[in-house]
Amino acid sequence: MMKVFIEEIPLGICKSDTPRCKIYRRNTCASSTRGEPMHSDQNESSPQDVSRRRFLKGALLGGAALTMSSKLALAEQMATGRLTARDIHGAGMRAGVVRMASNENPVGPSPRALRAIANNMFDVNRYSIYTNYPNDRFSGLGDPEDRTPLIEELAGYDGVKLPKKERRSSPSGSSSSSGSSSSSGSSFSFGRDDSPPPTPYLVSCGSGPFLKLLPLAYLSQGGGEVIEAETGYGSISRAAEGYNDKEIPTSVIRVPLTADYRHDLDAMRNAITSKTSMVVITNPNNPTGTLLSYEELEQFVNAVPKHVIVVIDEAYIHFVRDPNYKRAIPLAIANDNVIVLRTFSKVYGLPAMRLGYSVSSTAIQEKILFYMADSIPGVLTQIAGMEAVKDLAHVRRSQQAVWDFRDQCYPVFDRMGLEYIKGEGNFFQVKVGSNRTEIYRELGKRRVQVSTRGGDRMAEWLRVSAGTARETEVFLNELEDILSKSI
Ligand SMILES: Cc1ncc(COP(=O)(O)O)c(C=O)c1O
Repeated sequence: MMKVFIEEIPLGICKSDTPRCKIYRRNTCASSTRGEPMHSDQNESSPQDVSRRRFLKGALLGGAALTMSSKLALAEQMATGRLTARDIHGAGMRAGVVRMASNENPVGPSPRALRAIANNMFDVNRYSIYTNYPNDRFSGLGDPEDRTPLIEELAGYDGVKLPKKERRSSPSGSSSSSGSSSSSGSSFSFGRDDSPPPTPYLVSCGSGPFLKLLPLAYLSQGGGEVIEAETGYGSISRAAEGYNDKEIPTSVIRVPLTADYRHDLDAMRNAITSKTSMVVITNPNNPTGTLLSYEELEQFVNAVPKHVIVVIDEAYIHFVRDPNYKRAIPLAIANDNVIVLRTFSKVYGLPAMRLGYSVSSTAIQEKILFYMADSIPGVLTQIAGMEAVKDLAHVRRSQQAVWDFRDQCYPVFDRMGLEYIKGEGNFFQVKVGSNRTEIYRELGKRRVQVSTRGGDRMAEWLRVSAGTARETEVFLNELEDILSKSI
């Protein structure tokens, strides 16, 4: 039997149900009560659980098993009375580093996704039969009328009703498994002999590729104009501006955020001209984390001329705390000029697997597919994604970790008198002042990584991504210490 050594202790969920491999874990913390894997830094998940005394006691009791470096870490902690990065081993990170810089998931990926990867890893000698083209199946592989199971899962999760599966017929009228024609009679045919997908979904290697494909599709030929918030994520705007180097006339109108760091939708609408190709809205916004309501977005979409594509990037939408918050996918279903983007890199904890998706009209899909070619995620990625979507317990754990992170930080900032933006993503911005860069560097020296994303308008702010309770405690300890020394 082949063993895959990820860590040293068998995971509860992986013990017996994979015939060909076992997944092992290194640290001595057992599975959670749900029988799901936990990382060493996940033992206490709420800020209330963070007790230095308890940590010290636990560490001393386990003294026999302490390594040299953890003894050093413990000695340092006893000397200083506070957790440092050296005490931490975060999910997916090497020990001794606290990474709160890249808007990742501190909890780790869904254990169900990991199991699915392990279960299917020996089959990668075969091409994936899952593509964005439902008819693009090599003869004899599965049911050519099937939609990809990933899209079925996504639609279920998003509450999107997919069209009924229909037998597609060949030009002679007989049932076809070669994918040579479409019952829709669409003239869409480039690259392959396929019709566009009969669903509003396209999958890609992350949502990042869509942020390149959209300007390619709509600006790379004749140029045009993009409108985006300042400060926003900026990926589409940067790509569009790059076309000027290729002598394709593009311009970007950056519309300042409101005084409370939200998108100024009125100003964005007023900025639209006959040359505008695209308006980009990141919701919640990155880096400010501020959120627009469904009603605000709907009003905006209704007011925008139909030749303007409205891109709504919902990379962080799962972290919105209000259970009644309505997400934007219905706007993409109802309007030919709206596209919603989602990623598996955040709540699902799978950034290294590279998986994202879009929801849009056929018209937008056709434009994107022209440039997208075969850049679809591999089969392990799609299978992992499918399981992650189903793993609602992991989604809830990930959300809770982010909400706990906010609850842990905000009272400390209040006590310290620091201004911060109450974001709805898995990160927030905190204003540390004009020596922001020095503070950022000093945090880095102390092995706490945060981000300075935000451009000139946010030059006094740090963007801090969610950590576990202990990682967050280290960040708060170090920030407070650095600020008290006013470097
Ligand atoms: C707002 C936003 N959109 C898209 C992405 C791209 O994510 P990915 O390509 O990993 O799916 C990110 C990554 O951090 C992001 O912050």
